[in-house]
Amino acid sequence: MEKAEDGPQGFLPPFEHFATQAIHVGQEPEQWTSMAVVPPISLSTTFKQQAPGQHCGFEYSRSGNPTRNCLEKAVAALDGAKYCLAYASGLAATMNIAHLLKMGDTVICMDDVYGGTNRYFRKVASRMGLKITFVDCSKLECLEAAITPDTKLVWLETPTNPTLKVIDIQGCADVIHKHKDIILVVDNTFMSAYFQRPLSLGADICMYSATKYMNGHSDVVMGLVSVNCDDLYERLKFLQNGLTSHPQHELMKRQSTGCPGMVTFYIKGNLEHAEIFLKNLKLFALAESLGGYESLAEHPAIMTHASVPEEEREVLGINDTLIRLSIGLEDAQDILEDLEQALKAAVPEHMVRN
Ligand SMILES: Cc1ncc(COP(=O)(O)O)c(C=O)c1O
Repeated sequence: MEKAEDGPQGFLPPFEHFATQAIHVGQEPEQWTSMAVVPPISLSTTFKQQAPGQHCGFEYSRSGNPTRNCLEKAVAALDGAKYCLAYASGLAATMNIAHLLKMGDTVICMDDVYGGTNRYFRKVASRMGLKITFVDCSKLECLEAAITPDTKLVWLETPTNPTLKVIDIQGCADVIHKHKDIILVVDNTFMSAYFQRPLSLGADICMYSATKYMNGHSDVVMGLVSVNCDDLYERLKFLQNGLTSHPQHELMKRQSTGCPGMVTFYIKGNLEHAEIFLKNLKLFALAESLGGYESLAEHPAIMTHASVPEEEREVLGINDTLIRLSIGLEDAQDILEDLEQALKAAVPEHMVRN
């Protein structure tokens, strides 16, 4: 039985006032002389000053503009944060955070992260004098053992991209904060502020690729289910809840209010089977990215994580049969039917119905 303080299925209860804050914070009509209910989009790159240095809070749009202010205030409220800063892309935010460090400092990065984050740390930040150690932070003892006096930043992503390992944010924060001056960053892209608030779990910085769930429309560089087949039912239940058999299901429930629409699975067979499955999807678009209203499918080893060295991918389980799905908002029955027919085309022997 659920405890009174639990949310659905034993997750944390939903964050209060989420919808109200998303709709109102930073968007009060009273801030505009026009009293516009929807914040006007400010296109100007520069702002008139009364006298040199005498301005109305805005000088030049890279430093800040009225529209960006609205977004930053709303996201700060949703994250339970005091401040928020908006950037031109998720990676721009990553680079900005890395710039908090200096030559010789060490970054401990979760070994399974977005391919572009891995690439940035390995190929760019390392050339600028940062030392990067990739560690499986789902094992707190490995994180603890990796910390040296040079460690200045720990970078987590949970659940990880693409293998969906869940990291204990609070546990990592407790380990890290035994040491002075180590910044804990959590890439919260997969969860969004709706499901998880890393700052309240001890993270110092919560970052997003707002290209994904935080926007949700795939236009900014930002489900009843009827099945008979047991196997397909079990796989699709994963989409709906996150499976209770997932080794970190309890941890997920302890630190989040629910699950996003990300699913990864290994298709039986080899690369050829994975390709046949992906080619046969009709409703799912074969495309990188995630978190939009439309369903997407991708092959991490060839697409999002191609830049992770092959030996590293093998260790992480990002092999030729791994497929990542971002489940959209289409009718559940249509999603199920599309997956079923593509699976049937790729691995017909698995599609025997009971
Ligand atoms: C988990 C995660 N973090 C960061 C990024 C980078 O964000 P952007 O593509 O907005 O630069 C991505 C992009 O796919 C991502 O999936």
